Amino acid sequence: MTRIAPPQLCSKIMTAEEAAALIASGDTVGMSGFTGSGYPKAVPMALAARIEAEHQAGRPFRTRIWTGASTGPELDGALGKADGIEFRLPYNSDPIAREKINRGEMDYFDMHLSQVAPMAWQGFLGPLDVAVIEVTGIRQDGSLIPSSSVGNNKTWLDRAEKVILEVNSWQNPALEGMHDIYYGTRLPPDRVPIPLTRADDRIGEPWLRCDPEKIVAIVETDAPDRNLPFTPPDEAARAIAGHLMEFFRHEVAKGRLPASLLPIQSGVGNIANAVLTGLVDSPFDNMTAFTEVIQDGMLDLLDAGKLRMASATSFSLSPEAAARVNADMGRYRDRMILRPQEISNHPELIRRLGCLAMNGLIEADIYGNVNSTHIMGSRIQNGIGGSGDFARNAYVSIFMTPSTAKGGRISAIVPQASHVDHITQDVQVIVTEQGLADLRGLSPKQRASVIIENCAHPDYRPHLADYFRRACQGSYGLQSPSLLNEALSWHQRFIDTGSMRP
Ligand code: COA
Repeated sequence: MTRIAPPQLCSKIMTAEEAAALIASGDTVGMSGFTGSGYPKAVPMALAARIEAEHQAGRPFRTRIWTGASTGPELDGALGKADGIEFRLPYNSDPIAREKINRGEMDYFDMHLSQVAPMAWQGFLGPLDVAVIEVTGIRQDGSLIPSSSVGNNKTWLDRAEKVILEVNSWQNPALEGMHDIYYGTRLPPDRVPIPLTRADDRIGEPWLRCDPEKIVAIVETDAPDRNLPFTPPDEAARAIAGHLMEFFRHEVAKGRLPASLLPIQSGVGNIANAVLTGLVDSPFDNMTAFTEVIQDGMLDLLDAGKLRMASATSFSLSPEAAARVNADMGRYRDRMILRPQEISNHPELIRRLGCLAMNGLIEADIYGNVNSTHIMGSRIQNGIGGSGDFARNAYVSIFMTPSTAKGGRISAIVPQASHVDHITQDVQVIVTEQGLADLRGLSPKQRASVIIENCAHPDYRPHLADYFRRACQGSYGLQSPSLLNEALSWHQRFIDTGSMRP
């Protein structure tokens, strides 16, 4: 059965190479894709091959790439390897592109994911030449059946001069009806409240609109999404999940959370996935999720009947879990909603719904400032992603991490964070395998004591306690005592000796 219903569009069907030839050097290209889901798989590869050929012929060829978030190796990996990306936004986790960024060979604007579409509309990011969007199909009326992620597709389709569509027959046609595309967002001064008051509200339409006049190419593909498998939870991840379950039980007992909790948001990475797995055996039922990505753990919660529904902008499923969803899409479709990321991550909605935000971190300092993005203050790992959207606006903002990294040579709890993404006011709970620090209502000095005592690894705890004691004696001010010269010497010690151990 054809996935391209309007006969008049058949003349636009061409090869990926022909479509890639429609992209010029210097173009800004808005690609679909959010994690390893719903990104175009053929045109970026063909574009990368073309760029390599141009470079070999001595002709410079580079593009500016916008996406929803991270993508797959056929996009960031291939274009990065071809040295075809001059500028990238808003999030990257591809190792090749990461190396390029950290070598200073690719400019990267790492931004809050909720702000990408509004900034594009506000004109802050400049014009968009081409949109390359993966879809599941094109309907008779020209509307598009979205694929396994929505991301910024609505905005790219609206803003781009030209549109290239990849119609991927690997995507299950039963995806149709799962999406909720809201077309009511406006720019100031005309903004109005977004009419979503429950995580499972549908406020838009199931299809993407697209002006057929803008479509310059349609490429047919049959290629799977590519997400990495999750590693099974290790002892540290299980301990973190255990501390969190205890915290939630306590909050329910205190009457500060309902028995079904509040809509959960779960970040990227193995720890976040392990916490979801921990919720399967918890006493909480009838839960909902208002989050960015639906990962394996969320699927387990749905299957266990613990999670009533999940709202997100994308799947982020291991190949095994993706096959599970694909085999039973009709059933999952009624319990999942995929929305544009400007809605899934919208501060107004996160605050209204009272989300429980659970995100990973690289390091936290003793006052609760969190670094999610930069190793040793200057080397980008991934980016802030949606963590800032959720952390600032959540009902409870939780960050979690093992207490050490690199086989114990690095403490995740440090005197001073080498880079700050989430200021202490946006960080209410920190959890490591050692324990949980509930920072709500505490002054900086109180926070420091609780974080050192509950979260630091025993190998580093006495050194942190000693630093804090001396800072309290010899600091310039005693609101957030700091010994400036010494505060970052832990990081320098790691750079110099390969270990933070004093
Ligand atoms: N100092 C130096 N390196 C550190 C470190 C620290 N304190 N903590 C972790 N690392 C290194 C790890 O060793 C690992 O390095 P490797 O790739 O060379 O093995 C790398 O950072 C990733 O660490 P890992 O423990 O595998 O991370 P994770 O998968 O649990 O993810 C974040 C943690 C912070 C990187 C991840 O959550 C992230 O990117 N967050 C920002 C975006 C976000 O929160 N999105 C969700 C919003 S909805």
